[in-house]
Amino acid sequence: MGSRTAQNPKAAEWAKANGAKASAGTFADAAKFGDVVFNCTAGSVSLEALKLAGAGNLGGKVLVDVANPLDYSKGMPPTLTLCNTDSLGEQIQRAFPSAKVVKALNTMGNEVMVNPGLLTGEHDTFVCGNDQQAKAEVVEILRSFGWKSPIDLGDITGARGLEMVLPIWLRLLGTLKTRNFNFKVVK
Ligand SMILES: NC(=O)c1ccc[n+]([C@@H]2O[C@H](COP(=O)([O-])OP(=O)(O)OC[C@H]3O[C@@H](n4cnc5c(N)ncnc54)[C@H](OP(=O)(O)O)[C@@H]3O)[C@@H](O)[C@H]2O)c1
Repeated sequence: MGSRTAQNPKAAEWAKANGAKASAGTFADAAKFGDVVFNCTAGSVSLEALKLAGAGNLGGKVLVDVANPLDYSKGMPPTLTLCNTDSLGEQIQRAFPSAKVVKALNTMGNEVMVNPGLLTGEHDTFVCGNDQQAKAEVVEILRSFGWKSPIDLGDITGARGLEMVLPIWLRLLGTLKTRNFNFKVVK
């Protein structure tokens, strides 16, 4: 678990609670350690966080981008800092061209991300990215969480739609008064 500071108390607490294989350090420590790296930083500052992680530590690796480019500066609900013709996923891929960016899991609350069984019945998760092998690796990770059939939305420009889901997700949060919900695609 990376952080801006090596001694982040919450990260240390998380590492302590998650067994011998868990550890905490700086973003650079985490990126260096990981074979697969997850970007779970605030979307408005993800590029800065990933710069701290270090291009050299991310190069050649699968970088799963879970972040949403949300701007909370004008209060609730947040707005997207970019959309339609660009996305955070694409910005990250452009800034770190040798990383294999896969957008995934950003369209649901974190409780559901790693535990789809929390909700009754089938519901969906998505991946997109430029590298097929990287997407296949991420799909395997998603399967290990319990996702049966993640939907592949193609190259990293698919991140536009995945990030633009956030306004409706946030609206649903207000209406349903729970974070435990998700989207289902029916053909
Ligand atoms: N929480 C969810 O249910 C959920 C669901 C879907 C997607 N996401 C996305 O996942 C990401 C993480 O969400 P979150 O809820 O865990 O918390 P968050 O508050 O959005 O992000 C916290 C992370 O951002 C880093 N950070 C904050 N300000 C920074 C700065 N100025 N420079 C560099 N790094 C900075 C923090 O580092 P420090 O440790 O140093 O503070 C920490 O790693 C977000 O993009 C969010 O949209 C979250």
